[in-house]
Amino acid sequence: MTDNRALVTGGAGFIGSNVVRKLIERGWNVRIFDDLSTGYRENLESLAADRIELTVGDIRDGRLVHALAEGCAAVYHLAGSVGNIKSIERPQLDAEINVIGTLSVLEAVRAHRTPKLVFSSSSAIFGEVQYLPIDEAHPAEPDSPYGVTKLAGEKHCLAYAKLFDLDIVCLRYFNVYGVNQRYDAYGNVIPIWTRRLLDKEPLLIYGDGEQTRDFINVDDVAEANVRAGETPGLRGPFNIGTGTTFTINRLAEAFRAVAGPNLVFEHRPPRKGEVLHSQAKVDHAAKAFGFRPAIAIERGLVDYVAWIREGMPSRMPAARSAS
Ligand SMILES: NC(=O)c1ccc[n+]([C@@H]2O[C@H](COP(=O)([O-])OP(=O)(O)OC[C@H]3O[C@@H](n4cnc5c(N)ncnc54)[C@H](O)[C@@H]3O)[C@@H](O)[C@H]2O)c1
Repeated sequence: MTDNRALVTGGAGFIGSNVVRKLIERGWNVRIFDDLSTGYRENLESLAADRIELTVGDIRDGRLVHALAEGCAAVYHLAGSVGNIKSIERPQLDAEINVIGTLSVLEAVRAHRTPKLVFSSSSAIFGEVQYLPIDEAHPAEPDSPYGVTKLAGEKHCLAYAKLFDLDIVCLRYFNVYGVNQRYDAYGNVIPIWTRRLLDKEPLLIYGDGEQTRDFINVDDVAEANVRAGETPGLRGPFNIGTGTTFTINRLAEAFRAVAGPNLVFEHRPPRKGEVLHSQAKVDHAAKAFGFRPAIAIERGLVDYVAWIREGMPSRMPAARSAS
């Protein structure tokens, strides 16, 4: 048993690579397991090569996951098929990767009696917002196959925790943005606007721009993972956001501050089915493991745009469709 070895599934991805970085900063040696379907070796380039070990493979391969989890004091499970639209297009694949994949990890943790598993869940489990801010007890009625698979992942985690007396934590992230996040036509407004900014295209605002989001920087999400992983006896689900909200109009102002006053915005009619408001209640994570989001969006945005500008063009695939 190696006390300072952790396994991070999906560790070459956007959030996973930030978790790996944070673990290394805290003195951990990290095994990374990723099929590189949406992850990039490039995300790991700046990390200490002697502290990481990348294995390329599929999370559904239970034998491989079992071998990699051996000797690890903690497992961070982030590998997954991500996004509502993708899951509507390919629900079976989404379920195989997110449900069967999570069971591979749970079986490995059960067999090795790994001291801690931190599972990446999502605010997509909640579905239609019934009240704000969203606490852990908010009804979970996901309205996409992705949300269903994340909820199934949580339920499996909680059942394993009870059945086999394991410390398993589920972190439900809200709108995550930041370094190592690529453009996705259906993804977060921040990478979409950044892409359009660099392409000198107008940034699109749907409706009156008074929609609210709880944007959390990936560094804060990585911090939440490591803190949850390092807190003994911690179990159950926790909402991970900033606990505050930002309107799309305020986000536009923040972009102006980064890109200059000549930035052009274009207004479009409201999008059908768009969630109008979202905000996490994060007191539970604050009390249980001292989670305190530290990065204001204005600062996070400066870092993100700088990272994109440095890394062009390989870090930002060309915009596919108007968003
Ligand atoms: N980005 C967000 O705003 C957000 C919000 C809520 C929850 N999450 C969750 O956080 C986790 C990380 O998401 P992300 O935003 O970093 O996305 P990402 O696509 O960058 O990361 C997912 C990683 O998993 C890997 N992967 C995918 N399928 C795999 C498979 N079959 N076997 C092995 N590896 C596989 C990918 O290559 C990638 O590196 C996911 O579980 C996601 O559901 C993300």
